[in-house]
Amino acid sequence: MSEAVEIAPGIYWIGVNDRTTDLFEGIWPIAREGVSYNAYLIRDEKLALIDLAKATKGEDLLRQIDTLADTAALDYVVINHMEPDHTGVLRLVQRLAPRAIFVCSEKAREMLGTFYGITERIRVVHDGETISLGRHELKFFETPFVHWPETMMTWVTPGGVLFSCDGFGGFGALEGAIFDDQHDSLEYYEQEALRYYSNIVARYGRMVLKAIDKLAALPIAVIAPAHGLVWRGHPERIVELYKQWAGYSLGADKPEITLLYATMYGATETMMNAVARGITAVGVPMQIFDVTHTHVSYILPSLYSRKGVVVGAPTYEGHLFPVMASVLAMAEAKHLTGKKAAYFGSFAWSGGGQGTFQKLVEPLKWEILEQLVFPGNPTAEDLKKGEALGADFARAIQKSGLEGKTDG
Ligand SMILES: Cc1cc2nc3c(=O)[nH]c(=O)nc-3n(C[C@H](O)[C@H](O)[C@H](O)COP(=O)(O)O)c2cc1C
Ligand SMILES: [Fe+2]
Ligand SMILES: [Fe+2]
Repeated sequence: MSEAVEIAPGIYWIGVNDRTTDLFEGIWPIAREGVSYNAYLIRDEKLALIDLAKATKGEDLLRQIDTLADTAALDYVVINHMEPDHTGVLRLVQRLAPRAIFVCSEKAREMLGTFYGITERIRVVHDGETISLGRHELKFFETPFVHWPETMMTWVTPGGVLFSCDGFGGFGALEGAIFDDQHDSLEYYEQEALRYYSNIVARYGRMVLKAIDKLAALPIAVIAPAHGLVWRGHPERIVELYKQWAGYSLGADKPEITLLYATMYGATETMMNAVARGITAVGVPMQIFDVTHTHVSYILPSLYSRKGVVVGAPTYEGHLFPVMASVLAMAEAKHLTGKKAAYFGSFAWSGGGQGTFQKLVEPLKWEILEQLVFPGNPTAEDLKKGEALGADFARAIQKSGLEGKTDG
């Protein structure tokens, strides 16, 4: 159970840490890292709750509200985003807070019905609209697709706290302190924020930049997302990171290489070593992932942020090895477009892996620079070709980085 923390006068973090869910959204591993669902309470003449938590965390959330206020006295429940990791406790709150008005965007109104059967006591707010709580005033900003179409952010003054929901969020339960300025190192949280970004938000880079533009003039003292750290010491830090990450999907990805491989009996792996030698010799930074043993959640941050992708996978039943195919399908779901790519892989009779690879990367608009297939185990000559493939590809990535720089 967590304990409430006052983040500004009258404004409280009442978040909960989830260390028992194995897969966030039923896909993304968080068994080791955990995740927090940050909700907030504002005590004023009116009592307002900002976002909630996943259904399994109802008790933890309600206990914290009890330490600060009477749940039955709630005036407003602001729903920035309808995804059930923030609204699962909604029906419970609806029953316990008979006066509470649900404040949400126009698009969220319908979802309140389809998810929870809530059709009354709803107040729809539009971009720039405000609600007074007494001394505090809430102001709402529509931020569609950060993360769903109905998503908005809420800013409160005095205090200058931005409740940004999924925006500026990250994986990782909060270990001992909720604020950025209370941790010696932010490396872990920033890495988990990038994993969260590339797993959850990546598809909508343009919308993230639009939201950041919209908020640019707002005096923000604290960024209070619904997942991960509350940014009080350096709120601008997480905004800068999100801006940089959004840029990766718009052509500003780094001139570095992600090498993905899969193998059944080692033939493709032997070739992978040769290709990697070639890349290393040229001196381009590279990260290698065995896709059968690494969940795609941990691959996406690298794949997302780097311009070069090398795919090594054998033929399987006339197609690309299925685990690799599923990684490429995820890359398509997340719109990781516009990469430069290379392929290599072993086959035994008629092949097929290469054809599937070409088909899968077509909608991604990846430019295939190099391809190499070979029957059975690679010969010494094959391996020489592999090393040359790696070196040629690395030089092309290096060159694309220089071009990127001169373009500005
Ligand atoms: C279940 C299975 C299905 C396969 N399907 C094909 C195929 O349709 N066409 C082909 O040319 N080779 C096929 N192969 C052969 C592999 O592509 C070949 O053994 C290759 O060398 C495996 O590379 P690896 O050692 O990197 O796993 C198949 C192998 C297995 C085990
Ligand atoms: Fe979400
Ligand atoms: Fe969320």
